[in-house]
Amino acid sequence: MSKRRFDAVTIFPDYFAPLELSLIGKAKKAGLIDVGIKDLRGYVSDNHKTVDDTPYGGGAGMVMLPEPWGLAIDESAHQSDADIHDLIVLTPAGQRFTQGLAEKFLESEHIIFANGRYEGIDIRVTDFYRTQPNFRVHEVSIGDYVLGGGEVATLVIMEAIIRLIPGVIGNPDSLTEESHSLKNEDGSLVEYPNYTKPPVWRGLEVPEVLMSGNHRLINEWRHSQAVKRTEDLRRLTGE
Ligand code: ADE
Repeated sequence: MSKRRFDAVTIFPDYFAPLELSLIGKAKKAGLIDVGIKDLRGYVSDNHKTVDDTPYGGGAGMVMLPEPWGLAIDESAHQSDADIHDLIVLTPAGQRFTQGLAEKFLESEHIIFANGRYEGIDIRVTDFYRTQPNFRVHEVSIGDYVLGGGEVATLVIMEAIIRLIPGVIGNPDSLTEESHSLKNEDGSLVEYPNYTKPPVWRGLEVPEVLMSGNHRLINEWRHSQAVKRTEDLRRLTGE
C-alpha cells in the first residue's frame, strides 16, 4: 500500500490543530501519512461565503449546500493516488464507530472526512458519491449523542486509525494487548488493570502475582481480570 492520505473538509479548519501533536503529529513529520484540511468556504464563489440554506419542506435549522461539498470532495480525490476513496460522512445517524471499523478503515489508502454542521449536509452529496465506482461512502457516528459538528468525531476516528499504522506506535505489542483487541469466545474484552512503581501507594499494594515472575500465572490473572472488568462494564451499560 502506498502512503495513506487523510483529508478533512470543514468550515472550522482550526479544529484540526491537535493533528500537529503527539502520535499523529509525529506520524506526519515522519512522512508516514499525508493529511489535508480543506476549508469548505474556499469552494464557495459568492461574496458572503454562504455554505448553508433553509431546508426544502420547512423545519428548523439550516442545511449545508451540496455544491461546495462536491467541489471539495472532488479536489481531495484528485490529490490522492488511490484508486478508491473512502468518504466518511460524520453524522449521529450513522453506523457506530468501533475498533473493528478502525481496523477496516486501516485498509484504506485514502479517507475523506465530511464534517457537517447545522442540520447536516444535503443528502444528495452522499447519494451522488454512492453512485461513483471509485468511492465507498460510510455514514459514521461516534456515539449516541449529538455534537455541534463532525470535527471532534473525525479527530477520534483519525486517531484510532492512525495509531494502528505500522511504525506509528513504538512498541507494536501494545496494540495487541489493549482493550477491544483482546478476545475471548464472547467477543472483545477490555484491558486488564496495569500497575507500576511503587509497590505500595497510599496503602494500596500491587498484586503479588505480578511480581512473581511466573508468566503463565501472570497471563491467567490478567485474563481473569479482563473478563471481570468486561462483565462489570456490560452490567453497567446493559449491553
Ligand atoms: N455529528 C454530530 N454528532 C455526531 C456524532 N455523535 N458522531 C459523529 N458525527 C456527529
